[in-house]
Amino acid sequence: MIMATSNKPKTESPSGTAWQPRLVAILCNWCSYAGADLAGSSRIHYPSNVRIVRVPCSGRIDPLYVLRAFERGADAVLVAGCHPGDCHYAEGNFYARRRMLMLNQLLQFAGVPSERFWFRWVSAAEGPEFAHLIEEITEAVRPLGPYKPELADKFVLLDEIVQMLESMPESEPCPEHAEESEEASP
Ligand code: FES
Repeated sequence: MIMATSNKPKTESPSGTAWQPRLVAILCNWCSYAGADLAGSSRIHYPSNVRIVRVPCSGRIDPLYVLRAFERGADAVLVAGCHPGDCHYAEGNFYARRRMLMLNQLLQFAGVPSERFWFRWVSAAEGPEFAHLIEEITEAVRPLGPYKPELADKFVLLDEIVQMLESMPESEPCPEHAEESEEASP
């Protein structure tokens, strides 16, 4: 259903305070979630508008998770995993990067601004960097206002494309990632 909305981005809440976009962060357990945990346990201040979904590895993240997050009200989505060479499952983050780069292109094709989808490496020691990243995303998304579901029809198409791509065999990381993997290996 397409709802009538003002064209003017909503950057203030009814109370007059700065509007806080709703962020969903899908984080790998071993690095990025630990980085977020470090930010919290170090009492580093960052916006509280982020909801974290913890997964075993970024390679486990289905692009459909990102689409579902948007469909269910996220204003921006962050996917984060271990740095190249640090994945606890060897190459999961290289597979993730290939998927997320493809998803990013599909989202842009559907008209979703690039500020609404982020893919980053965050290590377990990067608590301050994680906090800074959440601030950066919040500030980038705020001028855009809430995500509007006008693209619901396109999401159906994106769902179908993503499912088709996922049904294709995926045996090797792409050459670009393979090079990086070699560089990262001892
Ligand atoms: Fe973190 Fe694979 S375990 S990306």
